[in-house]
Amino acid sequence: MSGVAPALSRALDAVLDGADPSALRRATVRLVEVYRSGAPPSAQVLADPTSALAYAAYRMPATHAAVARALREGSRVGALDGVRRLVDVGGGTGAAAWAVAGAVPGLESVVVVDSSADALVLGRRVARHGPPVVAGATWTRTDLADRAPLPAGDLATLSYVLGELPEDLRPAVVDALAAAAPRVLVVEPGTPRGYAAVLAARDRLLALGWHLAAPCPHALACPVAAREGDWCHVAARLDRSALHRRLKGATLGHEDEKLSYVLATREPVTAAPGRVLRRPQTRKGLVGLEVCRADGTAGPEVVTRRDRERYRQARDTGWGDPWPPAV
Ligand SMILES: C[S@@+](CC[C@H](N)C(=O)[O-])C[C@H]1O[C@@H](n2cnc3c(N)ncnc32)[C@H](O)[C@@H]1O
Repeated sequence: MSGVAPALSRALDAVLDGADPSALRRATVRLVEVYRSGAPPSAQVLADPTSALAYAAYRMPATHAAVARALREGSRVGALDGVRRLVDVGGGTGAAAWAVAGAVPGLESVVVVDSSADALVLGRRVARHGPPVVAGATWTRTDLADRAPLPAGDLATLSYVLGELPEDLRPAVVDALAAAAPRVLVVEPGTPRGYAAVLAARDRLLALGWHLAAPCPHALACPVAAREGDWCHVAARLDRSALHRRLKGATLGHEDEKLSYVLATREPVTAAPGRVLRRPQTRKGLVGLEVCRADGTAGPEVVTRRDRERYRQARDTGWGDPWPPAV
């Protein structure tokens, strides 16, 4: 879990203190309906202050955890080294800005771009409780449909936005991100639809001559795409606050947010040698891993106790981690 997650949770509690619980619950139900359908919404979703508040309470901890999970893989391969300026596109209430601030110690500036004035206003209020770089962020209202150039940065994030855009706008937005920053992170829900949107962004970035930093260990065709009914995704675990539990009518103290993502760079980086595609299966004396490999194939690997060092590594390896791990 990212180091700023407790700070974000406290910030949300502070901002949500005094909000009308029944209005929040009604707005949350509306958001759940929009996001469950998975289809691009026909109108602004965060179109009023209560919807923005409900989004921050009900979704922001999860999108924050998802971005933090992807950034962890970027950090492992050095893809975030040298990042000073973040441009968070479709940044909404600032989840990705908080996650990048938690993952990149040298971050100096943040620009959040979004079409929802209510999300930006709320994001700024939440950010006041955050680390200085988040508290000092610039919040800019921009509609991506205008196809205007984006502010420049060292990293551009697009978290849970691509799938909300009309299909014909998506390639232009990926191009605009690539023009704005030398590193681009696209995160989507870990659903077949989210994965398909990420895969299209991956293809677009590769066509621009970019390189893949994570999760892919290669730039060949995605082997998961060739499998009927499968999609590349990973889970990020997050704690649920009391309010979060109430809004979701949930009892468990945590949840797993599923995400699909791609982190690409203009300059080459050395990607992981392989990637664990599913939750490892641990049985007595063996660990079963489903691995995406650098040669463009994916398949099972079984590590037995007989191979002591490998077995120890496999037991410490999780879903979405590199395989084999760097020693
Ligand atoms: C699901 S929210 C994600 C917010 C944030 N990135 C996160 O990860 O929590 C989608 C965001 O995309 C923004 N958005 C959707 N269409 C947009 C457009 N055409 N131009 C700019 N922002 C847009 C919405 O206003 C909303 O804030």
